Amino acid sequence: MCAIIIPEKHMHYPVLLNEIISIITPQYGGTFVDCTFGQGGYSSKILEFPNTKIIALDRDKDTLKKSLDLKRNFENRFIYKNLKFSQLQNLKLKNENIKAVMFDLGFSYTQIKDKKKGLSFDVKGELNMKMGLNDFSASDVINKLDEKELEKIFKFFGEEKESKKIASAIVKKRKKQKINTENLVQIIESSKKIKNYKIHSATKVFQALRIFVNKEISELIYGLINATKVLKKDGIIVVVSFHSIEDKIVKYFFKGLSETKSVSRYMPKINTKKNLLNVFSKKPILPSSKEIKENPPSRSAKLRYAIKKEDFYEFETDILDKFKYLIDIENYSKKL
Ligand SMILES: C[S@@+](CC[C@H](N)C(=O)[O-])C[C@H]1O[C@@H](n2cnc3c(N)ncnc32)[C@H](O)[C@@H]1O
Repeated sequence: MCAIIIPEKHMHYPVLLNEIISIITPQYGGTFVDCTFGQGGYSSKILEFPNTKIIALDRDKDTLKKSLDLKRNFENRFIYKNLKFSQLQNLKLKNENIKAVMFDLGFSYTQIKDKKKGLSFDVKGELNMKMGLNDFSASDVINKLDEKELEKIFKFFGEEKESKKIASAIVKKRKKQKINTENLVQIIESSKKIKNYKIHSATKVFQALRIFVNKEISELIYGLINATKVLKKDGIIVVVSFHSIEDKIVKYFFKGLSETKSVSRYMPKINTKKNLLNVFSKKPILPSSKEIKENPPSRSAKLRYAIKKEDFYEFETDILDKFKYLIDIENYSKKL
């Protein structure tokens, strides 16, 4: 889902912005990394506070235009890079005293409205879904991967219950013609028996394809690992997620680095290096009813944050093992 789906009259709506500001406290100054610059909603707000500096990233080069506006107004306090957040370590941030690293996951209103990107099932033409800095498109996935692989992508990345039927119908259809966006929507509509009147029948498959094309699982995992590495003691990681797979990953990562685990149940609890983060609540912060009323799609947003407790940069996490079954699915792309 998207963080800034906006009621038409607003055009831009950074989700959970007030809550983020109260966590990262830019009124006291500091350097902040905005890993998902988008339309600059978070960055612009933070730069309103004096003595703040922003390092912003976005994989979509179309966000460059908005970044130039901020560069003009805040020349010495704003840096923008067209980079994926999994590449955070390339920025050599260790000498910067970073106060917070922020992730507002998914895609923006501007991106979903951009017909060329083909993120919406309303658009016509070739399948795409590339957000930027990609190696392959949704058209490659739908027209080239095996039936079993498609089924798993829809099942695990979209939680689509009828993934088997849909994958089989795709493979049948593509023997006759190359599948484009309209064809895919038709195939899904005619394959699905279970009707859900709350969401479009293509929503889950489209989510799955977007996650796969943009390798969103490994992006998030490496983004979290690298964010934790670049922070010093008291640095904050803030993540706004929009679907259950993302939230599961964030929750697991924070929990794994914040729990004091006993080595055996017969030994007392020991303070291991796992005790790197402080997580104040098991429950995520959700948008207020006022925000949901103004921007209904924000209802699926979940905000989690953690604060680094110690100044060390190498740590163990089993997050890659835990989500290996998802990364293995992402790796189907190696043959594209
Ligand atoms: C929901 S929008 C962010 C909106 C932003 N917070 C604002 O207020 O304008 C998500 C943005 O993250 C970018 N993005 C998604 N995955 C990324 C990744 N792995 N690396 C860098 N940028 C990414 C998308 O291109 C999109 O512009």
